[in-house]
Amino acid sequence: MTAPWWRDAVVYQVYPRSFADANGDGMGDLKGITSRLDHLEKLGVDAIWLSPFFTSPQNDGGYDVADYCDVDPRFGTLADFDEMLARAKERNIRIIIDLVPNHCSSEHPLFQKALAAAPGSPEREMFMFREGRGENGELPPNNWESIFHGDAWTRVKEADGSYGQWCLHLFDTSQPDWNWENPKVREMFRGILRFWLDRGVAGMRIDVAHGMIKAEGLPDTEVNAKGLLSLDSEKAPPYFDQDGVHEIYRDWRKIINEYPGDRVLVAECCAPRHRMPLYIRPDELHQAFNFSFLLARWDKHLLRDAIEKPMQLSREVNGSNTWVLSNHDVIRHVTRYGYAPDYKFGEGLSRDEPAADRELGLRRARAVSLAMLSLPGSAYLYQGEELGLEEVADIPDELREDPAHKRAGVPGRDGCRVPMAWQHDAPAYGFSETGKSWLPQPASYGERAADLQVGVPGSTFEMYRAAIALRRELKLGEQEFALRETGEDTLVFSLGAVTVVINLADKPLALSALGLENTRIALSSSPVEESSGTIPGNCAVWLTPEL
Ligand code: BGC
Repeated sequence: MTAPWWRDAVVYQVYPRSFADANGDGMGDLKGITSRLDHLEKLGVDAIWLSPFFTSPQNDGGYDVADYCDVDPRFGTLADFDEMLARAKERNIRIIIDLVPNHCSSEHPLFQKALAAAPGSPEREMFMFREGRGENGELPPNNWESIFHGDAWTRVKEADGSYGQWCLHLFDTSQPDWNWENPKVREMFRGILRFWLDRGVAGMRIDVAHGMIKAEGLPDTEVNAKGLLSLDSEKAPPYFDQDGVHEIYRDWRKIINEYPGDRVLVAECCAPRHRMPLYIRPDELHQAFNFSFLLARWDKHLLRDAIEKPMQLSREVNGSNTWVLSNHDVIRHVTRYGYAPDYKFGEGLSRDEPAADRELGLRRARAVSLAMLSLPGSAYLYQGEELGLEEVADIPDELREDPAHKRAGVPGRDGCRVPMAWQHDAPAYGFSETGKSWLPQPASYGERAADLQVGVPGSTFEMYRAAIALRRELKLGEQEFALRETGEDTLVFSLGAVTVVINLADKPLALSALGLENTRIALSSSPVEESSGTIPGNCAVWLTPEL
């Protein structure tokens, strides 16, 4: 039996608002995506993961869904979706959509009904309404905080105009949490899953997959959700990573198993490291994002851990690995690597911070990306990383849309969501013919536009393309992985006959120092002079035996 496609796939995340704008309103759309499928075919990806494009007021970039089974008019129509799916299929590109089950938008008709209904009504039972504490219920039901800062509870106005119950929203006030203890919510989501699976999607990325079920009695929390991102935390707060969530996944797995063609469920999951494998047990989800690389700075030990620890964990459950360097929630890795390894990042990048070293960032990012693309498991790429597009710090505050920015004034995640650069000399760098762009693109995007890279030897795009092609050709996903002990500034591992070396030092490294002088440099993240017998500083290479 051959392994299912997703076990070692390259999946490309498209953030629909920022990929390509076909209707000229300055915001990307589904027709825009269809028009740029050539780029993805050239790159050689197996699938697209599409961030939400559903009907939504866009308070959280579409992660606030008002209708799970329709396309937001800003992005197009269901017919545009079908067209995109069909055109992608012709290129052997599958489409994975984003399912947002922890919460919806406050504009969802069921939430509007719940607001209008009385406390204790079946309508309110769809969500997490509770009485407040204090003499007159004026205090929130517990001490939970929103991931986007501030209280996780908002007091609602009852029909008579008085303040009444409190409603839980782990994210923005406009993102009320569903009540997953209610069978009606479960039934509704089964229908949503089937709606999209019937349409032909290859699977779903599950947003906040560690959410949904809350500890009984909604007790106060002693730990903060943000601590989870370290992965080393022992304990999750009472609103995350509860055992009950696995029942939902067992249910969904049965549904997805009814469909042909190896469909996949992948979890965006932040749980304590030792609990991550639970999500990918054989009767639950297929994969969970491993965010170790998001946290791994330019440091041999950190990078080694980022590779080794998740591999150990997934081996325990015979699960497949995933690798992620960037996504729509974090500072782009080309920028992260442009700072000293001990630089402390906040939430997003502000224009008051010192600027990144652009060239060094690109060199190091290319090195880690090249190494990542050799690893067994699936690589999830974020749009623009194949071009080396950077985090944009210089966004006027009034244009920032991230709810965390609005709630707490942190720069937030808009800097990694700036629209793509397709053509260096076109309006909005080819993102939109009208030259409009919902966030301004910096001049540096023009310098790294796709048309300056596709087909250009040595470009970041061509490095990604070559690595994706070679990883497929050499079936790296099926090779035995082994780490080699080496010096402080060198990380070496092998996949069958292929050896991957990252030279973390600034100075060149002689292949003979590693006993690798009888190898051929098949791929390199920076230009190399093969006859020199060295690997440049801040560079990764794939070495194959000399024939
Ligand atoms: C998504 C975010 C979103 C949040 C709430 C996530 O983890 O990736 O972009 O803001 O869930 O839905």
